[in-house]
Amino acid sequence: MRVNFTVNGRPQEADDVWEGESLLYVLRERLGLPGSKNACEQGECGSCTVRLDDVPVCSCLVAAGQAEGRDVVTVEGLADHARRRSCGDAPGTSLDAARGWQPKGTGPATGDDPELAPVQQAFIDAGAVQCGFCTPGLLVAADELLEHHPNPSDADIREALSGNLCRCTGYEKIMDAVRLAAARQGEGA
Ligand code: FES
Ligand code: FES
Repeated sequence: MRVNFTVNGRPQEADDVWEGESLLYVLRERLGLPGSKNACEQGECGSCTVRLDDVPVCSCLVAAGQAEGRDVVTVEGLADHARRRSCGDAPGTSLDAARGWQPKGTGPATGDDPELAPVQQAFIDAGAVQCGFCTPGLLVAADELLEHHPNPSDADIREALSGNLCRCTGYEKIMDAVRLAAARQGEGA
């Protein structure tokens, strides 16, 4: 079957999709967007988290057909999503741009780096990335939290990230990163 959906603000279609194929597989293998990670394929780790019609979901548990006509945001489109949120812009991230995404802002946050979402910069600055396998899912989940709860409590952060497992950091740096992103967001408001 063919699946038509919007990915990172742009219409996309995937052909010859098998009925049991996951959204994660389509994103990674058919659209060439490997940012969403495949770790457990059982909905246990959150490394495959994307937003589906704005709601964070484990894309390994979503049948690709369920995405028909819907809106998906992956980690590759997170910076553009954050920019559109703050500026009201509309264009989205092209598939080629998403496939070619490279982190360019690896220094301290300057507030003018268009390549990273604020939450991505905060993860770098707080040292919340080690092996990085969990990071895309955490970023998508944390960005959604900060969109709806600009000033989250620690309990809010723990709750929002409770479905995302990290085997490296012990979670404290991740908590620091989300607190940092929230504080910066508050300063910029
Ligand atoms: S790969 Fe989807 S939750 Fe682990
Ligand atoms: S940084 Fe390695 S699993 Fe989280």
